[in-house]
Amino acid sequence: MDPVLDDLLDLDNGTISGAIFTDEEIYEKELEQVFARSWLFLAHDTMIPKAGDFLQQYMGEDPVVVVRQKDGSIAAFLNQCSHRGMRICRADKGNAKAFMCSFHGWGYDLSGNLTHVPHEDVAYPGGALDKSQWGARRVPRITNYKGFIFGTWDLEAPEFVDYLGDMAWYFDGYIDRYEGGMEAIAVHKWVIPANWKFNAEQPASDMYHAEVSHASAMQVMNRNAQQRIGDSEFNREALYEVSPGQQFTSPLGHGSGWFDRRIGSLSLNPEIAEWENSRRDETLERLGERRALSVRGHGNIFPNFMFLMNNTFRVTHPRGPGEMEIWAWTLVPKTAPDEVKEQYRINVLRTFSPGGMFEQDDAENWLEIQRILRGHMARKGRLNYRMQLGATARDVDDLPGLTTPHCYSDAGARGLYRHWGRLLSGMTWAEIMRLAEEAQGFDHEPTAPDSLAQARAAKEGPRG
Ligand code: FES
Ligand code: FE2
Repeated sequence: MDPVLDDLLDLDNGTISGAIFTDEEIYEKELEQVFARSWLFLAHDTMIPKAGDFLQQYMGEDPVVVVRQKDGSIAAFLNQCSHRGMRICRADKGNAKAFMCSFHGWGYDLSGNLTHVPHEDVAYPGGALDKSQWGARRVPRITNYKGFIFGTWDLEAPEFVDYLGDMAWYFDGYIDRYEGGMEAIAVHKWVIPANWKFNAEQPASDMYHAEVSHASAMQVMNRNAQQRIGDSEFNREALYEVSPGQQFTSPLGHGSGWFDRRIGSLSLNPEIAEWENSRRDETLERLGERRALSVRGHGNIFPNFMFLMNNTFRVTHPRGPGEMEIWAWTLVPKTAPDEVKEQYRINVLRTFSPGGMFEQDDAENWLEIQRILRGHMARKGRLNYRMQLGATARDVDDLPGLTTPHCYSDAGARGLYRHWGRLLSGMTWAEIMRLAEEAQGFDHEPTAPDSLAQARAAKEGPRG
């Protein structure tokens, strides 16, 4: 890694400089080296089911249009007119036969080819404009993973399944539980004045904050459940018991964590719980007991696509070092009855929408940290990512990949920033994949107490 990054990220010792959340230069590098080189979520099949259906999306700060083609495939292109750079498509979503730029009227077909130029005969006489050369810039690689459409600009990036690696097993536990897959039924979009990585590292790693940050929301939810279920059926102890759980971390930056409850539905909503429990045999058959019954909490596919067990799926788009734009969808099992789908929607609204009880708790933490990082001394210090340092083990307890023996761990965040640092430093995908392959064979976090970096940290003190 380059020396500047080495200083910002000391992951062998579990410390990070707050500057990675505030520095303009790092942010510009992120757009180039992280967002333009990673697989990014574009859409779910059910958001654009018919030919001509489209939606606007972002890849980093780049606006793109994602369109269902006549043959059923998906195309995506930069939402920038090749004439003067205006946005080609201005609607959030819809159905179109073609797109027309609203500046001078250049027209594009469903896959972004330039097809019409007003007054072409007088403006560019004698065929002076070769329209085939002036189409919108296409996203060159698109994949559809179980209905989830991802794209990347980078021809060198690994195939999506290799990019997911062991994370696929965990992700499938959310999206592949039921025959027929998932269906997107609602979306919310909002802006938070904080760096996008605060949100990304949370579902990748931070289960630790929940019982403190969300204490009041938990009380409301539990009280509500108690009233609806009835005191006699309500097991208060079970809710407050901190069962161990585990955390998964990937050498390619993905992470996931869960409480190992080994019970049926985790929902406090009786309608959802009843339906989920009625499908228990189906989920057991599809996912196996280990995964179906417990491996479900939260997760992040690097860099910025995340999901929670309550069926929230979101992207945190970067908007400068100090701001993120969250786009959050509710995805529900396609085969669930309408009344249950509606309960999922309401449940997400109450918890993780912009007005959701849990969302507000989280955002308060992130934007306060961002404010504090304006301070010179605050930015100079090191932040502590040392929880369960060196505790990862491979393929234990029927869990693929590297996991820690408790979900209170920073291993997922360390994994996220390790991969982020490699990309940011300009390391090639070939080298990144070689290092990831190497990490397959052993615990990739240091355990030796006398490692050079630890010795250095002990000398200098953890706050730097
Ligand atoms: Fe699009 Fe001129 S900028 S037609
Ligand atoms: Fe939270």
